[in-house]
Amino acid sequence: MQPTVEAAIDVLTQPLALPCGAVLPGRIGKSAMSEQLGDRVNAPTPALNTLYGRWGSGGGGLLITGNVMVDRRHLGEPKNVVVDDDRHLTQLRAWATAAQAGGTPTWVQINHPGRQALRIAGTHPVAPSPIRPKVPGAPTPKQLTDAEIHAIVERFATTAAVVKEAGFHGVQIHGAHGYLVSQFLSPRANERTDAWGGDATKRMRFVVEVMKAIRARVGAAYPVGIKLNSADFQRGGFTEEESMDVVAALTAEGLDLLEVSGGTYESPAMTTGDTRAESTKQREAYFLDYAEKVRAITPVPLMVTGGFRSPAGMRDAITSGATDVVGLGRPFALDAAVPRTVAGGGTAPDMGGRKTSAKQLDAALELYFHTRQIQRIGGGHEPTASEPMPITAAHMLLDNGWAALRRKRGG
Ligand SMILES: Cc1cc2nc3c(=O)[nH]c(=O)nc-3n(C[C@H](O)[C@H](O)[C@H](O)COP(=O)(O)O)c2cc1C
Repeated sequence: MQPTVEAAIDVLTQPLALPCGAVLPGRIGKSAMSEQLGDRVNAPTPALNTLYGRWGSGGGGLLITGNVMVDRRHLGEPKNVVVDDDRHLTQLRAWATAAQAGGTPTWVQINHPGRQALRIAGTHPVAPSPIRPKVPGAPTPKQLTDAEIHAIVERFATTAAVVKEAGFHGVQIHGAHGYLVSQFLSPRANERTDAWGGDATKRMRFVVEVMKAIRARVGAAYPVGIKLNSADFQRGGFTEEESMDVVAALTAEGLDLLEVSGGTYESPAMTTGDTRAESTKQREAYFLDYAEKVRAITPVPLMVTGGFRSPAGMRDAITSGATDVVGLGRPFALDAAVPRTVAGGGTAPDMGGRKTSAKQLDAALELYFHTRQIQRIGGGHEPTASEPMPITAAHMLLDNGWAALRRKRGG
């Protein structure tokens, strides 16, 4: 029997128009994964060009880079790329060109780590309030002044303007996973009583100001997205209701794509889902229930990230209207052309399950294993999906020392 015209059209390869007028050529997006491939002065290296050249020709609809920092004094991970002025414009242009040569638009995820920062000589982590994150080894951050907060808002705008000048097709604000934007939103991290905290409306002022400042610099026709937590999954943290209010406020400021994630590095739901929730056990992707609710309050296109692996799960999520874009992280580290694999009926690879008896060690190994694969692709090699866990652990210790065991952050 001949397939009908409808059946022959694959939802995963359908274009998606964004509010700003830009069009994504397909529905599988690579979500941000910190590559740690900046050089000594935090400029992009040629390995990023190789990596994104591979990812960009893999048949996807969107690539979002690993988090790029807006201030070189505050890094999330070693070897982050930093864009706080145009000093690295030449390397950024080469990166954008390599990534987009195959026709896949590439957006840069921009971030300030706040209290989830690496210790760097001469600087101290900053945050809305001096509350130590419950991550081993993290110091109590310094509380930001009003003037410092305004300066960081401007930094996000400057970074976005340079990213645009370099030729990238969009930017994404990192508003998830317990970094600075998410710290302002959370009552557990933000106990301010001034104009930046005190109630939910004041706690969301920072992200709204960041959005406005970026939009003012890049113009109405340039894609600006955000990765936002559906919730922090912590008692007293940022709730689902508050998250909906943030979405409504950002919709009014011209948001183009809402990527839904969840969790913080105190409670890392981004790579596991809310393991207590029945819906996570029943559904392949972690944050679909929230996505369905947020649909009712915003016309902004959605990208749901976390847990998608099967072609049927991805197609169902799109045809049911639960999401517009399927976000994939770890599968891209194992198969650089995973959108093509999925469109051809294959399952996205998943190498979860490096389980030891220690939860923190498992989280660190999970991130480190995938970072290693990303760096292999950047070095012109194929990923080594079968690498045994003790080998990953040995490399992690050799590269990072014992400090890596105490640091379970990776994006
Ligand atoms: C090695 C690694 C690095 C990551 N870096 C970031 C990052 O820089 N920014 C971010 O928003 N999420 C980051 N994440 C989270 C992913 O974007 C994604 O939300 C998560 O892996 C769940 O999706 P998945 O189940 O398809 O992997 C990272 C994940 C991994 C494994």
